[in-house]
Amino acid sequence: MTSFQEDRYAFLTEWHDPTASLLRRYQLFFYPKDNSVEMFDLKYQRMFLRRTKYEDLHLEDLFLGNRVTVFSRQLKLIDYGDQFTANKLGSKIEKTFALVKPDVLNKIGDIFELIYSAKLIVTKAKMTTVTWSQAADFYVEHQSKPFFNNLIQFVTSGPVVAMELTGDEAMSIWRTLLGPADSAAARQEAPQSLRAKFGTDAIRNVCHGSESLAAAARELEFFFPSTVGHGPGNTAVCEDSTCCIIKPHAIAEGLTGKILNSIREARFKIAALQLFNIDYANAEEFYEIYKGVVTEYPGMVTELCSGPCIVLEIQGADIPKSFRELCGPSDPEIARLLRPNTLRGLYGKDKVRNAVHCTDLPEDSVLEVQYFFRILDG
Ligand code: CDP
Ligand code: MG
Repeated sequence: MTSFQEDRYAFLTEWHDPTASLLRRYQLFFYPKDNSVEMFDLKYQRMFLRRTKYEDLHLEDLFLGNRVTVFSRQLKLIDYGDQFTANKLGSKIEKTFALVKPDVLNKIGDIFELIYSAKLIVTKAKMTTVTWSQAADFYVEHQSKPFFNNLIQFVTSGPVVAMELTGDEAMSIWRTLLGPADSAAARQEAPQSLRAKFGTDAIRNVCHGSESLAAAARELEFFFPSTVGHGPGNTAVCEDSTCCIIKPHAIAEGLTGKILNSIREARFKIAALQLFNIDYANAEEFYEIYKGVVTEYPGMVTELCSGPCIVLEIQGADIPKSFRELCGPSDPEIARLLRPNTLRGLYGKDKVRNAVHCTDLPEDSVLEVQYFFRILDG
């Protein structure tokens, strides 16, 4: 019997059933005391999964909009299932908007590291460019300021990375992490801040951060509109490039920043970057050529849709071969023996959770880049 004192969290969740190709709805219960889960089928009004211990789910993963994997099913958390859960978990979780400005894209790995160290999670990310009129729209509150033209000139001077950050008090935590707007002042007043570390002056100050939750909502809608196909597009060129996917397990382990830094140190150019939540059908389609060829195929598909992944378009001398060499042997155990400094050697766990995917066949390189940046982000 469940004691009434025991904490129980409830969520309304959706699961895309690939075999029937429809959405199924479950009530998900999580019991932190023994880390167990329980699922109730809402359509058929019956128990779907009896309370079972499940070590891979953690309280930190339980926030609205997130996707969690429970026994190989990727569930999207749609709403709180009861008032207790809403009160307990709903109060402080916020979303805020961050924009990495054009002059510090080579610091993107360090920026990811600092975001994670502040216990924030990147829930959306897209490398993009903004036109003059989009930038003027975005910064409309500053249009009468003397620095307005310089600011617009600056943010339109090259690609930026737009991000949605989620976490407890995300808005103010991100502002604190940024530090004062003027980088020189930041070095005086907040030496650990991002602007103190990587900023140049009052205009080239590393990143933007929303100043209120209302501003965050407006700015997120601007870069990540709820209507598909609108908003600033991705920067993929789909030419002389290859595809890299930072896999969900690596993102969950907080390795994104380290992987991006390793790629930069190896002198590859990241021409496009975007966070995707791949569903089961798309993961199967993407890995189609491995079906029946490698025994890990089912595991690879499940891993790819188990949480957000970050897809990169990579350019550089002698790609795709040179980039495959940076990734190393697909089995991390072998990589650690033979090529310990490769991405798989450094960050991989096992054959399926091997930190990154890279294109196998040269003729598939651009096709894989197109799959994400032209088809899925259509
Ligand atoms: O970005 P934040 O909200 O901290 O500062 P802001 O006062 O809202 O200004 C927006 C942006 O305008 C800054 O991030 C700077 O890039 C730029 N700016 C500038 O170029 N010169 C100033 N004196 C102040 C701000
Ligand atoms: Mg501002």
